[in-house]
Amino acid sequence: MNQQRMPLVEHLETFANSNPISFHVPGHKHGEILPSAYKAYFQEMLKWDVTEITGMDDLHAPTEVIAEAENVARDFFQTQHTFFLVGGSTVGNLAMILAVCKRGDKVLIQRNCHKSVMNGVELAGANPIFLAPEWDDTVRRFTSPSYETVRTAIEQHPDAQALILTYPDYFGNTYHIKAMIDKAHQFDIPVLVDEAHGVHFALGDPFPISAIQLGADAVVHSAHKMAPAMTMASYLHVVTSRIDKSELAHYLQMLQSSSPSYLLMASLDMARYFLANFSENNRINTLKSTAYIKDLFASLPFLEFIPAADPLKLTFHVKHPFSTKSVANLLEKQNIFPELTTDEQILFVHGLAPFEQIESLEKRLKTIGHPLKKSVNRATIEKTNIFPKRIQELDLSYYEMKNYTTYLVPLEKSVGEIAAEAIIPYPPGIPLLLKGERIKEVHIAHVEKLQEQGVRIQHRDEGIRIYRNKGER
Ligand SMILES: Cc1ncc(COP(=O)(O)O)c(C=O)c1O
Repeated sequence: MNQQRMPLVEHLETFANSNPISFHVPGHKHGEILPSAYKAYFQEMLKWDVTEITGMDDLHAPTEVIAEAENVARDFFQTQHTFFLVGGSTVGNLAMILAVCKRGDKVLIQRNCHKSVMNGVELAGANPIFLAPEWDDTVRRFTSPSYETVRTAIEQHPDAQALILTYPDYFGNTYHIKAMIDKAHQFDIPVLVDEAHGVHFALGDPFPISAIQLGADAVVHSAHKMAPAMTMASYLHVVTSRIDKSELAHYLQMLQSSSPSYLLMASLDMARYFLANFSENNRINTLKSTAYIKDLFASLPFLEFIPAADPLKLTFHVKHPFSTKSVANLLEKQNIFPELTTDEQILFVHGLAPFEQIESLEKRLKTIGHPLKKSVNRATIEKTNIFPKRIQELDLSYYEMKNYTTYLVPLEKSVGEIAAEAIIPYPPGIPLLLKGERIKEVHIAHVEKLQEQGVRIQHRDEGIRIYRNKGER
């Protein structure tokens, strides 16, 4: 297929240039009706913000220009079908789970998955079996579940209806997902991959191999995270016939707006074009730039670089005794905004082009200053085995929860009860206790220990919500 074309972008451009008269929604009428102070800023773009008038096709049943744009994307990503999404990877995860799992089905999921994965399983009323991630000393974070955990879970639950994995993680780390996919396929279990952070893996070396190429059955990409697309613009790929495309389409039209944004869809067409036409020179210059920026940040005496499989993800460990927060504050005072800070690390995301503001960045980093606030309470969470069970089922299923009411009790009085909310310490942002899990002494002991270490646990002073029979206190 012709990857030089942008079917939807070209169509919108021709339409906008044809001097159309709007007697239809949206109410800004091609950007004409806007507050005057911002009209100049928005008007040009809103000429493309149209609706499903003749010739504009329909995202929910595409046969014309949207179908053409999705087909070119399908050809580029080498999938059976590619859906354009206007609700982020969030909606992609929800739809792919709903399409594959029904009430009571067993689903194997990573404990450290995005909340949309948990929400999808809960909406489906499926029974999650959580796979604990491993602590990786080289990157000093929890990463993915081990192959052993995945293999054991599959062998214990060969009737699972899906294995749902996140690849890569937020920090651009990958793992041997192919062996896990192959194992699941031995039992004909579909593998759904949340590849929200890996749309650019389609570019090939030196980026990691996409789960699409590694045999996953359905894959979600946030085009807006690592490719130049507008926020919320994402793709959902059907890769094999284990996934029913019409089921996916059914859930997507339920979950997404009936008036999807043409700007978002055009931006997906453009992001695919950008990736498809990324030249060898683009690649070389982008990589040179990532290396330069990495060295620039690494020259700050309080930062230590931590390599990742994805060269666009620049993670630094904040050296003892400095606090990440104070480093982030110093940077933000200079109007330099990182993607993410954890208690010990800071992540900068490089774009898919050479960084253009080098002089300005160098100047700002020179004046960044000292001293940095000392961290008082460094969490030593990695030394605590917070997930003693590698494979964990819920004590109360998502669909049974609906028959109960919730009740707030002090944490110390909650042992033996079933949690109606998760306890998620930051770091590592992974549920220590799951909604639907029975609370044990060990959970309370962990919470107390983590709080002593200064780890943030939301609203825990107020207690925890537990399930009770309706009318019971
Ligand atoms: C791993 C992962 N999956 C899914 C999402 C949701 O993506 P979106 O913002 O495109 O809805 C995120 C968002 O940060 C994420 O990190």
